[in-house]
Amino acid sequence: MVTQKIRENIYSVGAIDRDRKLFDELIPLPDGTSYNSYLIKGSEKVALLDSVDPPMYSTLLDNLKNLSVEKIDYIISHHGEQDHSGSIAMLLKDFPDARLITNKKCMSMLMDLLQVPESRFKVVEDGDTVTLGDKTLQFMLTPWVHWPETMVTYLKEAKILFSCDFFGSHYATDELFFDDREILYPAAKRYFAEIMMPFRTSIRKNMEKLKDLDIEIIAPSHGPLHRPEDFIWDAYKEWSSEAVKNEVVIPYVSMHGSTEVMVKYLEKALAKRGITVKIFHLTESDLGDLAAALIDAATIVIGTPTILAGPHPNIIYAAYLVKVLRPKLKFGSIIGSFGWAGKTVEILADIISSLKLEILEPVIVKGYPKESDFKLLAELADGILARHKELLSDNKI
Ligand code: FEO
Repeated sequence: MVTQKIRENIYSVGAIDRDRKLFDELIPLPDGTSYNSYLIKGSEKVALLDSVDPPMYSTLLDNLKNLSVEKIDYIISHHGEQDHSGSIAMLLKDFPDARLITNKKCMSMLMDLLQVPESRFKVVEDGDTVTLGDKTLQFMLTPWVHWPETMVTYLKEAKILFSCDFFGSHYATDELFFDDREILYPAAKRYFAEIMMPFRTSIRKNMEKLKDLDIEIIAPSHGPLHRPEDFIWDAYKEWSSEAVKNEVVIPYVSMHGSTEVMVKYLEKALAKRGITVKIFHLTESDLGDLAAALIDAATIVIGTPTILAGPHPNIIYAAYLVKVLRPKLKFGSIIGSFGWAGKTVEILADIISSLKLEILEPVIVKGYPKESDFKLLAELADGILARHKELLSDNKI
């Protein structure tokens, strides 16, 4: 990434990582990502907000050189995760006079993760300010978006909120603002699903805390920046709410076609009943797309064959991800085919038990589905429709 000016003496100096394929060795990155770092030159002091993933440190240094930065007074760390904090130890060596500003929890993490000595820190509390001369940084604790130590910085004079992971997106672009909503909205939604969805309650609380700030720019640490008229604030309100839509998500695997026939039948039966269906053939689909679909769905139906007496391993993996992402889902069921015996339903129901879904009668058939099995699938579709109608009448959909 080339250095980009946001406002007078405020720059984006981070790095774009177009080639990264996975985040946390888990999350697919179809559009790459960026590690946004921001430089603020005040009339008296210079501050750097967050760093970059360590392999991109030379890019950050080059960007600082381009701006003739010889001295940094403060390095602000909003979040201990290494995609933002990982270069801080190197920065502290290269800028020996810099103080590292963060909150107490994050300090403890950075001491553990990066072995930064305590003497380099300046600890701030919620609401504290630090002046750079003609610019004032205000720090606000925003715990659990998505680690316990996360915080944001509000630059009062320029009305910029530096939000770190909050409001981010894994989307690599040279453009500071990216106006193609058709592209950025789904990228931000995937990011929310993969990273923020389990912490909806904290997100709502933190948005409440930030809502009265006069914000002209939100500058996250991944992806493009946002203006007030952009979609991100309203989208976060919707995604973090507990409301679901009249939608069913069906992740499935089929070894010899029997489960697939059932899935396709159920898809048509649900669509006929006016329900939106999103299907994910797990050996081909991107798990990020499945996660994004789970933001809205009221119901999940898992389709799996029985292999070695249990669900297909890809389904176990997906079910575990669904469990840890803690979507708003209200109802669930399991469909599939088996050859002789197994505990497919028990194993899957156990994995997702913490979601406390109402489980509608599973449809598990021996071999290829028969007329009577399709009838059961139609009844399952009826059951889902009835539950969704109840939600609708309760205004929860
Ligand atoms: Fe972008 Fe939680 O790190």
